[in-house]
Amino acid sequence: MSRPKVVVARNLGPDVMPLFNRSDLDVVAWHSETEACGRKWLLENIVGASGVLVMLADKVAGPKLRIVSTMSVGYEHVDLQQLTDRGVRLGYTPDVLTDAVADLSIMLALMAGRNSRETMSVWPSYPWSPFAFCGPQLSANWLHPTRTAGFIGFGRIAQATLARLVPFGFTHCLYTGNPASAPTPERDATLARTLGVESVRRVALAELARESDVVFVLAPGAPSLRHVVDAAFLRGMKKTAVLVNTARGTLVDSDALALALREGWLWGAGIDVVEGEPHVGADHPLVKEPRCVVLPHIGSATTETRLGMATMAAKNLISGVLGDTMPAELSI
Ligand code: DGY
Repeated sequence: MSRPKVVVARNLGPDVMPLFNRSDLDVVAWHSETEACGRKWLLENIVGASGVLVMLADKVAGPKLRIVSTMSVGYEHVDLQQLTDRGVRLGYTPDVLTDAVADLSIMLALMAGRNSRETMSVWPSYPWSPFAFCGPQLSANWLHPTRTAGFIGFGRIAQATLARLVPFGFTHCLYTGNPASAPTPERDATLARTLGVESVRRVALAELARESDVVFVLAPGAPSLRHVVDAAFLRGMKKTAVLVNTARGTLVDSDALALALREGWLWGAGIDVVEGEPHVGADHPLVKEPRCVVLPHIGSATTETRLGMATMAAKNLISGVLGDTMPAELSI
């Protein structure tokens, strides 16, 4: 009997690739860990494949495909309608990256408030002075004994980020929900009690902008949410607030954010994702902006997390193709 063919579009390293050493699969794997396989290689090799493991930037289709496994929690690069129409199952990697992305969100909130981009370039010579480089304090303090966090999108990563803010003295949480889903006041009250904050409330965007000391963008990159952070939102923010985007670049209007930072509508921004990535040049309006810390999409980039994601993606592919339950299958 012929063995099902699977294509692995990236070398997942010495800890994970051995999972594919199996006699019941015909495995075609791209050789490089750092260099993408490219569309030509993928399209040539997908012929006859039952399953494929892809990265965030890969787009692929094949007539025999039954399983797509993406090494990401986000799946906006996948055409879900096509999958449904063709009866293709999708594996993805939720949960394993929640803590790493929440950690980085806090790091960016701190960096954006404390002028890290400017301050990291002052050495070797800087005369210390009392109020130089001062920025808003993230943690509660004598001047601001209560702190409010705003979340655009309030899933697993947002809630893990909120938990990390509690020791900083955050007392209130505001979030925006999917308008199609019903409010969940009981869940919110339970969450507030469990975390020990005074309130967790679903609000409209304008209130979230107005009241938050830090706004975290942690929603999925759905087309309906493109530029959910626009000029109107940014104009509504506190002048001392910071914006953190560790979700998707398309959620924030880059030109509006650059203008807002220049004009002082908010204090600073920390972004791990940029509109137009992976092709983001030095002339990108946010890369040029001194009050914006820009990272190259490294939210999940801890060794532990990436190993977890790669392992889960490999197991999703193998189980799916062999007709077994995947460790994490999206219900489409
Ligand atoms: C994901 O998995 O969707 C992240 O953006 C990559 O870390």
